[in-house]
Amino acid sequence: MISMFRAAIKTISLGSRRSFPSGLRSEARPFCRKTPTKVRVSEALTGVELGSEVTIQGWVRSVRSQKENLFVHVNDGSSLQSLQIFASSDLNNPLLTFGSAVEIKGVLKKSPHPKQPFELEAEEIKIVGECNPVAFPFKVKKRHSPEYVRQFPHLRCRTNSFSSLMRIRSEATAAIHSYFKEHGFVQIHTPVITSNDCEGAGELFQVEATCPQDSGEFNFFSVPAYLTVSGQLHLEVISGALSRVYTFGPTFRAENSQSRRHLAEFYMVEAELSFTQSIEDLTKVMEDLFRSATEQVLTQCAEDVDLFHKHVTPGHREAVDAMLKRKFTIISYNEAVEVLQRSTEAFVFSTEWGCDLQTEHEKYLVKHCGNQPVFVTDYPYDLKPFYARDNQDHPRHTAAAVDLLVPGVGELCGGSLREERLDLLTARLEAADLEDTYSWYLDLRRFGSVPHGGFGMGFERYLQCILGIDNIKDVVPFPRFSHSCLL
Ligand code: 4AD
Repeated sequence: MISMFRAAIKTISLGSRRSFPSGLRSEARPFCRKTPTKVRVSEALTGVELGSEVTIQGWVRSVRSQKENLFVHVNDGSSLQSLQIFASSDLNNPLLTFGSAVEIKGVLKKSPHPKQPFELEAEEIKIVGECNPVAFPFKVKKRHSPEYVRQFPHLRCRTNSFSSLMRIRSEATAAIHSYFKEHGFVQIHTPVITSNDCEGAGELFQVEATCPQDSGEFNFFSVPAYLTVSGQLHLEVISGALSRVYTFGPTFRAENSQSRRHLAEFYMVEAELSFTQSIEDLTKVMEDLFRSATEQVLTQCAEDVDLFHKHVTPGHREAVDAMLKRKFTIISYNEAVEVLQRSTEAFVFSTEWGCDLQTEHEKYLVKHCGNQPVFVTDYPYDLKPFYARDNQDHPRHTAAAVDLLVPGVGELCGGSLREERLDLLTARLEAADLEDTYSWYLDLRRFGSVPHGGFGMGFERYLQCILGIDNIKDVVPFPRFSHSCLL
């Protein structure tokens, strides 16, 4: 098979097999003398350059050879749909296989088939890169399981569903940026390398230079440095002068978790709002962001999203529409605990006041609220990091923190009002022996401190939520998690 592949001729062309009167060919077809326009598949499918000679470049999705005719479908990633290429069977070639890369010259025409308005009548098919279909892990027209596809991180973008996912990811990114731009937020590039542990959970990756320096003890930054777990503290710095800011970048957690919703490297959208007194100011932004981004993705990537909602996670579209229809519920942690304690469900983890909500609790609460997104507010003070604002309530001491729980995923966003009062913040940092580490953070409260707050939304969890994808590893191009860093 392989030797046949090598031996085969790479380019096959036909002068003209179509119905041009031979005497007219040179006058009637001036394109023979100029380079054909390169057209992307998405453009060709809208009929641009109709009647002109064009070049299409892409990867073969199917080949069907009949006695006289050859039908090839070519996709270049610009859309889910492939372009049908119609050719004389003389243009067939053993190298023209599923997965091979091709460059095809021909004329764009109206197609007689109702499902395919335009097609390319090929004159020349050039094989740019061969693909042995026997060795290629994906098979034509076969729907492979996510577990199978995941084994080929270097090739999985060749599948329809993964290339759809990449387009959706890109559109969702653009939608998030659009939302913030439309609402007057300034994007801040917070650092990836940092010397602080924002969440205080100790789940840090330390950054060191690989080359040992002369001194032996040399530490590149002279202080321990880490990959960031959150851009929040840097956003808070900037929010001392710019009252609405956001960041959207990679964050890292050394969580030794093999769960379906944790990665060691994930993208987080974080916003910080100055002069904010209430949790509702934050929940409004979270809800608006969710709605606006989702509506944009559903309209701009309709075909790609449909692929998931029809074939990968059937029925999920209705769930997304339902999420968009109703205002999100808000309940306090106290109410959440009461709901859990009243339930007859046999939870594995404690539902005592003061315990953190576990995935099983989050799922139950979402179901209890009609399978709709639900905000849980005012968590026990001791459960939240040092920056969370003290509600100064008794006897159940809480902080002004909020999580957004969504169907199928659980926690999608986490946020809080920040402690802006110097005395309270100092006391909390002193109690944790962190007042020196965070002296700069205390300065923010010394000089023009204002009530403020913000939140973070896990981008991969957001994609899981709108597409109904069970495993977070299937919504990220190159998943990183404990014991796995492929490529
Ligand atoms: O709740 P978290 O830890 O909040 C923060 O980091 C705050 N400093 C954000 C802020 O207020 N600016 O994380 C926020 C969100 C979570 O709700 C979850 O969606 C996602 O980040 N997340 C993860 N996603 C994938 N893998 C992980 N290991 C994640 N950890 C958190």
